[in-house]
Amino acid sequence: METVAPEILISEADINRRVDELAARISSDYADMGEVVLVGVLKGAFILLADLSRRLTIPREIEFIAVSSYEDGDVPSGAVRLVMDVRSSIEGKHVLIVEDIVDTGHTLHYLIEMLKSRGPASIRTCVMLHKEHSTEVDVEIDYLGFTIGDAWVVGYGLDYAEQDRTLPYIGVVKP
Ligand code: IMP
Repeated sequence: METVAPEILISEADINRRVDELAARISSDYADMGEVVLVGVLKGAFILLADLSRRLTIPREIEFIAVSSYEDGDVPSGAVRLVMDVRSSIEGKHVLIVEDIVDTGHTLHYLIEMLKSRGPASIRTCVMLHKEHSTEVDVEIDYLGFTIGDAWVVGYGLDYAEQDRTLPYIGVVKP
């Protein structure tokens, strides 16, 4: 099957610049708070988490969590489901959820409420992309990379049916 390369929406250079800025802001905001637990949401946030965590100048722990809200491709399947939990307790800790993209907002809303119920000292969110027009649930994004329109995007961790996660840029899938 012939495949067409995704059209570049956000270049690798722009991503790098933005991640630098986010890391600087987070490092400064958390400077007096002690350690932060970065909770990366699999699979999409694995690259952002790797890049962000290596730029931070504050003490940090790395955790991963996995949820599922979509079938293969872009057809929503309904409720959000926990697929894999963090390994250690977050009680009394400063938690920063690191997520690839907010579309309807259901996934991030679910994660915030679930993790909040475990008694963290604080909980904030860092999200690379926000599709502003498709938001159904309001969620607080404390650190945002870019706001984008309503297209299916891939690269920098994001996939379309498990393809294109490792593209260095963020691109729009061509129909
Ligand atoms: P939400 O619950 O609708 O906000 O969806 C969030 C999840 O949907 C993200 O963590 C992604 O896994 C997936 N998703 C939504 N839009 C896209 C996209 O354009 N490309 C890749 N994944 C997406």
